[in-house]
Amino acid sequence: MSGTVVEAFDAVDVIRTKRDGGAVPEDALRWLVDAYTRGYVADAQMAAFAMAVLLRGMARDEIRVLTDAMIASGERMSFAGLGKPTVDKHSTGGVGDKITLPLAPLVASFGVAVPQLSGRGLGHTGGTLDKLESIPGWRAALSNDELFAQLRGVGAVVCAAGAGLAPADKKLYALRDVTGTVEAIPLIASSIMSKKIAEGTDSLVLDVKVGSGAFMRDLDRARELARTMVELGTDSGVATTALLTNMDTPLGLAIGNANEVRESVEVLAGGGPGDIVELTVALAREMLTLAGRPDADVEAALADGRAMDAWRAMIRAQGGDPDAALPTPRESHPVTATTGGVVTRMDALPFGVAAWRLGAGRARAQDPVVHAAGIDLHVKPGETVQAGQPLFTLHADDEQRFARALEALEGAWAVGAEAPASAPLVIERITA
Ligand code: URA
Repeated sequence: MSGTVVEAFDAVDVIRTKRDGGAVPEDALRWLVDAYTRGYVADAQMAAFAMAVLLRGMARDEIRVLTDAMIASGERMSFAGLGKPTVDKHSTGGVGDKITLPLAPLVASFGVAVPQLSGRGLGHTGGTLDKLESIPGWRAALSNDELFAQLRGVGAVVCAAGAGLAPADKKLYALRDVTGTVEAIPLIASSIMSKKIAEGTDSLVLDVKVGSGAFMRDLDRARELARTMVELGTDSGVATTALLTNMDTPLGLAIGNANEVRESVEVLAGGGPGDIVELTVALAREMLTLAGRPDADVEAALADGRAMDAWRAMIRAQGGDPDAALPTPRESHPVTATTGGVVTRMDALPFGVAAWRLGAGRARAQDPVVHAAGIDLHVKPGETVQAGQPLFTLHADDEQRFARALEALEGAWAVGAEAPASAPLVIERITA
């Protein structure tokens, strides 16, 4: 006789507990995540629960259980057999944030394995895989065997995260996206950390962005998010630290895909914009410290070509040609200063939105990106310009895209008389 499965809890009770500000017991929370993944708990019920979490918050122990339940919804990888330490980096996302590209090979050049399982861009922050797919032949999808072989040999891998990691998060994140519940710190922290812990890295460095172009505009909330994630990692045996870093201004001079690869290669060749170098070096030091190499001279590895060698090997291992020409745009549109003075600001968010509208990002997960589209900045805040001097250039495959990008950029930069106060790029370091 086939009996019906008797569910251990009632979703409405769990929702009411959180709605009224209570702590959800561990077994009920684990059941909720499992039953939602199975399709027994409906989207409407999970959305109500997510809203209750957003309004009422969660205790540290509840966040730990939620994260653990999301990890348990899928496969858990292990790099224990690799014979070298593993360290990963996660950024909460920013405009012009291509740091993974120089960082992964730089860290790998010290004999540490960097399994960088990444996603594609959605909205105004670009995706690392989209950027690397500008390189002819480069392939994001790797089997587990290929991933392990590359970690053993080259040391650095940037590839697509398999669908098997934390499937509960995939479902919940899509739901949060359409129910105004993305911003809940317990939900963001458990979403990010469930994937990173399931991936099986020994240690993790988080780059939590703060500012107008970031998910977290406010320093206190960014700090709370960072602390919550550092606690989750530490509680799960993943050595975790976080840097809070400024995202008021785009990082570097390139915003897009192919142009961001070009800029990353400049950094690997020992040059590149100062802010990209500074952040790459700061994150590499954190990663290498966690991996047991606190004295590694990361600047030397950028200057003497070791990081570049690791980059070339990493791109080749995934079918890419590191010497191939990158896509170039069909249409370009320079924007010039109308008066002379000092550039006082360039706001990250509108520049990100404009690059997205030019085709560098996607509005729906299934849309393709235009690899040559984006924006090249010619100056940054604090620099002096003359009237008529180009400030930045828009790139697209179709000139009809320029009008909407320019609309996004209205009021997004300013040229004035006085230099802006300089803001530190790395604001704070958060450890367990
Ligand atoms: N990135 C994630 O993976 N999850 C979130 O909730 C937010 C950002």
